[in-house]
Amino acid sequence: MKPNMTDTELQGQSAASGYRGPLVELRQVSKSFPDPKPLTILRGVDLAIGAGETVAVVGSSGSGKTTLLHLLGALDRPSAGQVLYRGEDLFSRPADRLAQFRNRQIGFIFQFHHLLPEFSARENIMLPGFIAGREKPEVEQRAAELLAQIGLTDRAEHRVGELSGGEQQRVAIARALIMEPDLLLADEPTGNLDPQTGEAIFELLCRLNTSLGLAMVMVTHNYQLAARLDRVLRLGDGTLREIAPDQLAQLASIAP
Ligand SMILES: Nc1ncnc2c1ncn2[C@@H]1O[C@H](COP(=O)(O)OP(=O)(O)O)[C@@H](O)[C@H]1O
Ligand SMILES: [Mg+2]
Repeated sequence: MKPNMTDTELQGQSAASGYRGPLVELRQVSKSFPDPKPLTILRGVDLAIGAGETVAVVGSSGSGKTTLLHLLGALDRPSAGQVLYRGEDLFSRPADRLAQFRNRQIGFIFQFHHLLPEFSARENIMLPGFIAGREKPEVEQRAAELLAQIGLTDRAEHRVGELSGGEQQRVAIARALIMEPDLLLADEPTGNLDPQTGEAIFELLCRLNTSLGLAMVMVTHNYQLAARLDRVLRLGDGTLREIAPDQLAQLASIAP
């Protein structure tokens, strides 16, 4: 986790441009869906996330949490406002650079892992590396390291359907990390797992955050897990508000 602001600034400063601001930023972002019925999901949301920072997003079902992650990861565009990455407006980039950004800078862990069922754990993990045009030996080595890190070396050749829910989620995490992103976006990564497996996945994410220094935004319904991240934000009525530490302690003391 992010120990202090100085750390964030140092990491920002180390970027080639000498940029010192947030890693990713939403500025007055609104999102509406016109079909099948006009809906406004986000209303002028501001959010800044520093390098290495961990943020939990909570909110009721349908409040727009997945939509928010999609905007942060440039999987969707805002209806109004800006998404900035290291201070640069993402959607002013040409489409090919945007695709490259998603592939290289963002690790996305989907709510329902979206692994390819006909491929093995190892092949699923390697795929973003091949999409990026990396050399096969390099991708294979990185996949082997990640398999070891997630404790699945002995399941590498299993197909997705031959893995447990927790194992599938670990593969999805490794796939999200193969390109060594700066930002990991995790959509209810423990939501479909039993509490013990969920805890193990959460701990794995926290370890990766610390060892790789990557920023993390995690959507969760579990306040006990959320409270262990740097900040907890609640999405509701189209706006994002930070939950104060005392209120969070109270919420986390109630069983999830
Ligand atoms: N592509 C879309 N077109 C129309 N409506 C959508 C689309 N994606 C999401 N929505 C609607 O936006 C709302 C928020 O969705 P979502 O971000 O998935 O919520 P959450 O993840 O908080 O449950 C929901 O009411 C959903 O039906
Ligand atoms: Mg969702």
